[in-house]
Amino acid sequence: MSRPRLLLNAFTMNTVTHVSYGTWRREDTRQTEFHTLAPWLELVGILERGGFDSVFFADVVGLYDDFDGGWDTHVIEGLQIPNHDPSALVSALAAATEHLGIVITSSVLQDHPFSFARKISTLDHLSGGRIGWNVVTSALRNSARNFDLPDRVDHDGRYEWAEEYTEVVYKLWEGSWDDGALLRDRTRGVHADPAKIHKIDHRSARYSVEGPHLSAPSPQRTPVLFQAGTSAAGRAFAARHAEGVFINQGSPSAAREVVDDTRNRALAEGRARDDIKFFQGLTVIVGSTEEEARRKAADLDSSFSVDGLLAHRSGGIGVDLGGLPTDTPIGKLAEGVQGTRSSIEGLIRAAGGRTDVTIADFIRHKQEATRIVGAPEQVVDELERWQDAGVDGINLQYLLTPGSFSDFADHVVPELRARGLVPHEPVTGTLRDKLTGKGDQLPDSHPARRWRGAFTPTATKSG
Ligand SMILES: Cc1cc2nc3c(=O)[nH]c(=O)nc-3n(C[C@H](O)[C@H](O)[C@H](O)COP(=O)(O)O)c2cc1C
Repeated sequence: MSRPRLLLNAFTMNTVTHVSYGTWRREDTRQTEFHTLAPWLELVGILERGGFDSVFFADVVGLYDDFDGGWDTHVIEGLQIPNHDPSALVSALAAATEHLGIVITSSVLQDHPFSFARKISTLDHLSGGRIGWNVVTSALRNSARNFDLPDRVDHDGRYEWAEEYTEVVYKLWEGSWDDGALLRDRTRGVHADPAKIHKIDHRSARYSVEGPHLSAPSPQRTPVLFQAGTSAAGRAFAARHAEGVFINQGSPSAAREVVDDTRNRALAEGRARDDIKFFQGLTVIVGSTEEEARRKAADLDSSFSVDGLLAHRSGGIGVDLGGLPTDTPIGKLAEGVQGTRSSIEGLIRAAGGRTDVTIADFIRHKQEATRIVGAPEQVVDELERWQDAGVDGINLQYLLTPGSFSDFADHVVPELRARGLVPHEPVTGTLRDKLTGKGDQLPDSHPARRWRGAFTPTATKSG
């Protein structure tokens, strides 16, 4: 059976401890050097050589909620504090690479949509159209309190905010400048055509933006839109907007359910099922034999920090799991959660719908459910199982950086190439075209496209 290409995305964060708890203490990882450029340049070199399509930077703009009554554990574990702005890294990484897509997370909380749209357009120009945006709404209380709010906005209200925010940036990216507005006509002395550049006059509950967009259209206009979050509201948002969805499902069958459901919702929104690419989060420990891989896994497990994991996850869920016995049932918590619902829902799904799952189950699930350990052929067999469930690509999580990525590039990618799952030559072009093969800009079926031409004086649509 000939298979589609498997998309490869590297998952990282401009911080010490992202999702690899406790490993920062080891000599064979560069996590503690994250604040310098050198480890990032090394990483993107490995990713390009290894045929990766993109690197994805997670980000948060505040502390995770309290663990064991406070945030000491976060500081001790380097758990996303210190944590630096990923967008500031992008132009350096773009200059050091030719083909790699660069996806950054930015919350609707942290940047006014006008300045965010300008920043992204600038980066998309500088990178030749290789930028993606992971749209997040900030589930963390402290994030909200860092940006003028008394507390976190409720779960579904955050997605409504994202709807409002995306409308503003879409108007700027898609509608403010018509195609052909930029002339650079030296002979006539006309740099751009005023008749083709428009104010957007946006007014909504939170935002009032006159425009025009200060950036001329970049190669992709709108960056490739990613989303993560699989609650009902999250899936509805993904179905309308996302071109890439990051999922962390506990099994291929759980992934299939999310993928099918979200694709069906996209169809109902007038989009095509394959307008959305799904990237499953996975950790891979590869050895030349299965025994060697298992030895590596045991060695890595000896550095694992349970407190780091629980502080991160309970902080994300918004329920303090600190100091609780590990046989405490946590399944029922999913219902009342205002933070990240997907974590507990994923655990329940993986447990066949059982809600009596405990903290110990949660720890085991987070450590093992999405981990593949084996020789290259075994790893690729597993990746094919995920692909058979409808997943388009993987979101490779590291345990050591750049070691987990170079192991994958050196030992797994040759097997992927041998099976025709990853091309031998780099896929060139913009990130959108690389992922979809359908061009640099959004398809007409995407809601952002309705703003194309909407502000031209002759248009019948209005803002
Ligand atoms: C793989 C993955 C990556 C994520 N990255 C971020 C991130 O970088 N920053 C952030 O604030 N939230 C991040 N999230 C959280 C989501 O944006 C979302 O808030 C969360 O999954 C809850 O959504 P839900 O309740 O709809 O499931 C991530 C989630 C997943 C599954």
